[in-house]
Amino acid sequence: MLRTHHCGELNIGNAGQNVKLCGWVAKRRDLGSLTFVDLRDRYGITQLSFNETSNPEVLEIVGKLGREFVIQAEGKVTERSNKNLKMPTGEIEIVVEKLTILNMSLTPPFTIEEETDGGEDIRMQYRYLDLRRDNVRRNLMLRHQLAKHVRQYLDGQEFIEVETPVLIKSTPEGARDFVVPSRMNSGQFYALPQSPQTFKQLLMVSGFDRYYQIVKCFRDEDLRADRQPEFTQIDCEMSFIEQEDILNLFEGMIQHLFKEVKGLDIGTLPRMTYEEAMHKYGNDKPDIRFGMEFQYLKPLTEGRNFNVFDTAPCVLAICAPGCGNYTRKQLDELTEWVKRPQIGAKGLIYMFCNADGTYKSSVDKFYTQDDLEKWAKLCGAEKGDLVLVLSGETRTVQKQMSELRLEMGQRLGYRDKNNFKALWVLDFPLLEQDEETKKWHAMHHPFTSPKSEDMDKLETDPGAIRANAYDMVINGVEVGGGSIRIHNKELQGRMFKVLGFTDEEARSQFGFLMNAFEYGAPPHGGLAFGFDRLCSLFGGSDGIRDFMAFPKNNQGRDVMIDAPSAISEQQLGELNIKLRG
Ligand code: AMO
Repeated sequence: MLRTHHCGELNIGNAGQNVKLCGWVAKRRDLGSLTFVDLRDRYGITQLSFNETSNPEVLEIVGKLGREFVIQAEGKVTERSNKNLKMPTGEIEIVVEKLTILNMSLTPPFTIEEETDGGEDIRMQYRYLDLRRDNVRRNLMLRHQLAKHVRQYLDGQEFIEVETPVLIKSTPEGARDFVVPSRMNSGQFYALPQSPQTFKQLLMVSGFDRYYQIVKCFRDEDLRADRQPEFTQIDCEMSFIEQEDILNLFEGMIQHLFKEVKGLDIGTLPRMTYEEAMHKYGNDKPDIRFGMEFQYLKPLTEGRNFNVFDTAPCVLAICAPGCGNYTRKQLDELTEWVKRPQIGAKGLIYMFCNADGTYKSSVDKFYTQDDLEKWAKLCGAEKGDLVLVLSGETRTVQKQMSELRLEMGQRLGYRDKNNFKALWVLDFPLLEQDEETKKWHAMHHPFTSPKSEDMDKLETDPGAIRANAYDMVINGVEVGGGSIRIHNKELQGRMFKVLGFTDEEARSQFGFLMNAFEYGAPPHGGLAFGFDRLCSLFGGSDGIRDFMAFPKNNQGRDVMIDAPSAISEQQLGELNIKLRG
């Protein structure tokens, strides 16, 4: 037996026992006649102690120990004179009688501690060392806990986990596909699944009734903190259900996860239509941890010859509580912030609600105190508050104001990572139009069913159709989304037509699904959660990378294994691929 215990479990109750521990040398401290070694493994750290009465052979080995050496120590659990009550093992140490070096280590390129001196690049290159750090390991353990409770909940609801293939044909989730050349079918390519969407629908036709899978998905799209080219979904599908059943069942799942993993009761999830979310927050994934809802000022601004507002279809305001003491410098900085290309506003109008009940705005030339008082009333602004106003085209200014609201919420400390507010956003538009090509695209995917009351607009007014589609949003993050599907071949055909597929294209890409729909497809629907996003949210982080064992960088590279990389002439030849240039 290499060890009797691990490095996180011994305490004062074990005093006097002879034990064997294995692990990595986290730290060695030489204090003259005394030497201490912090021994680390997955479970924790235990202090090893050596003094001049220790066996000389042991002392010789201790002298050779470097950081990250792998060792085995045998000795007696002893009460410490200098206790560290912050550590679970901090009341004891092992007085070592026998020491073995199991393996040596080069000096690691960064310190393996929570606060490391290693930058992102070097840590990614040596990710296996980065994963030894407590905080990164904790993230992966959280991921494991979440996966375990997801399985437990879904299993309890009669879902069965079915694996679907990875070498498939293009799936229409809207991103670019990663493709894999086929050696045996020269000139032909598999696509990696952007999601198992079509397969899970086929499983419903097969009568599986309730399917789930914690599954890798692949999308070749621009990367951000919450997007990776390969990521994991909790992918689910159910038969003989309506939207309400799905919302209830998965609301139950998220409540279960918060309860089991964080000990929190997040309560019933509020529901909001897409239109309402856009109207109040300018965002289809609103952060409802705080208010600062949009107020529409346009009717109160007219007829005062302020050209900027008069020519804008939409004048939007938010109230920033307690910001009435903002300085000129702070306002100038905020104005520059909204004018950055990422936000794109032309300028920012502001109004102070003074302590004496008067108002001071950047448009005092045009508006009287009475006018400004009406603005303040509409915005619910009180003495000491600041009202911020943007104007322009409705959708554009809603988006800009959404960014400003989030920024102000952040500055005001309203976006506490330990406060969780989840909601459902419902009734998404079925289709959106590409501004350049004027082509219609499915906002979710082409298998999403229109609301029955909007069905007759499919050919006449596609932009006005709402879908039976829903997203779950937590703290401004879209953690999951899904829809009730079309299960009727004729309607699916109409949908493909609106999306600009010829019959031939629809048949060649999705013929298998259309055919399946002719063999008794049940009414069905489902959703998928972004598992990495869920993990990072539970872990209180904005980025998903630290919740994945081996993530890719912003260029989509794995710098540790150096992928992607060129392949040999021979491999290219076998695949019958000629590179250009
Ligand atoms: P959707 O495309 O909305 O739906 O994806 C579901 C969830 O997956 C997460 N997600 C991502 N996470 C990390 N990196 C990415 N690149 C990435 N892309 C998406 C998001 C998102 O909410 N087949 C449908 C689901 C269905 O209709 O059942 C689908 O894939 O959290």
